Amino acid sequence: APDIPVANVKAHLAQLQSIATSNGGTRAHGRPGFKASIDYVKGKLDAAGYQTRVQSFSYNGATGYNLIADWPGGDENSVLMTGSHLDSVTAGPGINDNGSGSAGNLEVALAIAREKFQPKQHLRFGWWGAEELGLIGSSHYVDSLGGERTKIKGYLNFDMIGSPNPAYLAYDGDGSSGPAGPAGSAQIEKVLRDYFTSIKVQVEDTDFDGRSDYGPFIDVGIPAGGMFTGAEGIKSSSQAQKWGGQAGQAYDRCYHGRCDTTANINDTALDRNSDAIAYAIWTLAGTATPQP
Ligand code: PHE
Ligand code: CA
Ligand code: ZN
Ligand code: ZN
Ligand code: ZN
Repeated sequence: APDIPVANVKAHLAQLQSIATSNGGTRAHGRPGFKASIDYVKGKLDAAGYQTRVQSFSYNGATGYNLIADWPGGDENSVLMTGSHLDSVTAGPGINDNGSGSAGNLEVALAIAREKFQPKQHLRFGWWGAEELGLIGSSHYVDSLGGERTKIKGYLNFDMIGSPNPAYLAYDGDGSSGPAGPAGSAQIEKVLRDYFTSIKVQVEDTDFDGRSDYGPFIDVGIPAGGMFTGAEGIKSSSQAQKWGGQAGQAYDRCYHGRCDTTANINDTALDRNSDAIAYAIWTLAGTATPQP
């Protein structure tokens, strides 16, 4: 898997910040900054050769949008999906929550195109709307799949991957510290953990507690996984020994706040997690054997 240039991920964050700033300081559901952000991500993917579509839904009297992007090729009956919510709360520009996962996934998608990756599995990406109002966009997408949902063999979720006082938390697919994910989730957790082992960074589990967009996927039995660098929770002293940063302080003191700006990002966490996304996709999707 390629090393994802963190400067490129940060350039996407700068664009998302500027879109929010020129639209009342937010990318919340129903606000113009949300649709403008969808258009930004879609423009990059279209130019790189993705097949994109915008799925609309209605919630709370406003139109919401999911952006779905398919990388042509691979076995369409065996889809590996990667997603992140692109909406923010109304209080601020949501650069860590969740510009970070959205920008990391976008740059990995662009790296797939640059490298002309020919995976065995078919790759699909999703940028969800209205997560902050209760996983509305991702639930709408999963509902809309009907019987096609069995083609999705795995779902990778990235929601907050650049917290300023970061933890390195993997969704607990194998159930070693809480409820396990659907069968197959353990393998996703292992691949993500293997990446962090290779760069000598320790990882802890975080429960599938339903607080992000993997929820609707695991509810229908789709294996899932992903990384999270922490929200309003407090870093313990043992975690500060593992990862550095400030014990006794929130992982993200600007969580859902006005100060969740481009200043609210730990570049090292953003870089490591972006590289982990690429490693997980390359490893899980496999490389196609060239046809003679
Ligand atoms: N989904 C939460 C939010 O957007 C943050 C979160 C992500 C919480 C992952 C737990 C696990 O506010
Ligand atoms: Ca990198
Ligand atoms: Zn949030
Ligand atoms: Zn979030
Ligand atoms: Zn685990």
